[in-house]
Amino acid sequence: MAKYVGAIDQGTSSTRFMLFDRDGAVVAQAQAEHTQIYPKAGWVEHDPLEIWDKTREVIDKALGGAIRPGELSAIGITNQRETTIVWDRTTGMPLHNAIVWNDTRTDEIARAVAARFRKGKDHLRAQTGLPIVPYFSATKLVWLLENVPGLRDAAEAGTALFGTVDTWLIWNLTGRTAHVTDVSNASRTLLMNVHSLQWEAKLLETFGVPAIMLPTIVPSSSASIGLCDGAAVPGLAGVHIAGILGDQQAATFGQVCFSPGQAKATYGTGAFIMMNTGERAVASTNGLLTTVGWQLGAGAKPVYCLEGGVAYAGSLVQWARDNLKMIQNAAQTESICRSVEDNGGVYVVPAFAGLFAPYWRSDARGVICGLTAFNTVAHVVRACVEASAYQVKDILDAMACDSHVRLHALRCDGGMTVNAFLMQFQADMLDVAVTVPAIAETTALGAAFAAGLAVGFYPDQATLTRQWVKAREWVPHMPRAQREFLASRWCMAIDRSLDWHQ
Ligand code: G3P
Repeated sequence: MAKYVGAIDQGTSSTRFMLFDRDGAVVAQAQAEHTQIYPKAGWVEHDPLEIWDKTREVIDKALGGAIRPGELSAIGITNQRETTIVWDRTTGMPLHNAIVWNDTRTDEIARAVAARFRKGKDHLRAQTGLPIVPYFSATKLVWLLENVPGLRDAAEAGTALFGTVDTWLIWNLTGRTAHVTDVSNASRTLLMNVHSLQWEAKLLETFGVPAIMLPTIVPSSSASIGLCDGAAVPGLAGVHIAGILGDQQAATFGQVCFSPGQAKATYGTGAFIMMNTGERAVASTNGLLTTVGWQLGAGAKPVYCLEGGVAYAGSLVQWARDNLKMIQNAAQTESICRSVEDNGGVYVVPAFAGLFAPYWRSDARGVICGLTAFNTVAHVVRACVEASAYQVKDILDAMACDSHVRLHALRCDGGMTVNAFLMQFQADMLDVAVTVPAIAETTALGAAFAAGLAVGFYPDQATLTRQWVKAREWVPHMPRAQREFLASRWCMAIDRSLDWHQ
């Protein structure tokens, strides 16, 4: 009798394997970090073989002989999205390091493609829901096709394959037989039409990508995605891969945001906000992304989401620690924030690599403003923490304009949610309640849910919704005038950052 469902969570900095029971509780887990490779300023790469090795390592460690064959019902995969890998179909060897989602080397490629169209970088929004910017996989694949010797010929001959990290892992897990991705990951490539859920010839032509190198697009939850090969991963021999979700979609699913209007924010290195818009692909006129949330089974109607991401959230605190030496560790920030009455008029906009949603300005730069001789390190640290809340508010304001839905509560997860000062400030700035769930591992949980639903381990979504329990809630109590004053000052700080052209 199956007792567990597993999830591989392959993220930007580490890989995890987790086992969940029928209540969604974590019963075993293991995690391993992998190397961040920075060949040049703005370039970020991962070694695909190292990622595969770490994946096998964490699976072995978490299983640890603790479970018997037959106790694992299925596994789901969730992954850092957009990160682009090419490999040889015959040898299985990568043809280059993975180009990571936050790598900006393709800025010029994206600009050149956008310049060919009347609507510039928004030209492909109607089909893809995305702007033409370096973040998404297409320009990264163009760079590889142009720069890896022999790749274009191999791609056209069908011997070189493309995939995002889910594709790469499944290819290896299945003993190099399944070349697939799911609709949520494919919706981050600029190559899939978000309405038809198919690769679109016109988009492939725009970027010069040979169709033959692309994986087959499958639903996010399906019992027939692939079977793990015992020679590749002995502990998973014969186990079905039954779920695939990009990590932000997985966190939304794991937070059981199943109804239109529900939203989650994940505070990690960056911060990612997703709102379920149901069967409607809401076109954003406010700089957000229209993306596929999930598709539960072949032929099922997809659920769409609006998404906004910011590049620097937790990483701004890391910068304050490592580069400015203002703090020793992130855990200190809560007491430092509380040690001063307010921000002392200081605002920090972390536009270190430009600003993502809703601005999409790669030329914006970071600013610290409002300084006076009265200020201390505590004010600047507090401003760094508050910056996450302001950025999340900017995105949720844009979502409210696009969706015409008023948010009732925001479900939060990720490392920064341990900072209760930030959570209270977030509730105050949004003027809505902010909650964190009892099971904090929402990303892996979402992938486990997708897999478990496909194989009947979890009976239905209604059961998952009933199981969701909040661990904590912060309700807003800041007076409106104060909230509006702070928000207007943040807007002024953003203006300074946007003015700082290179
Ligand atoms: O779009 C990028 C996102 O999927 C990366 O997430 O949590 O691995 O940094 P994370």
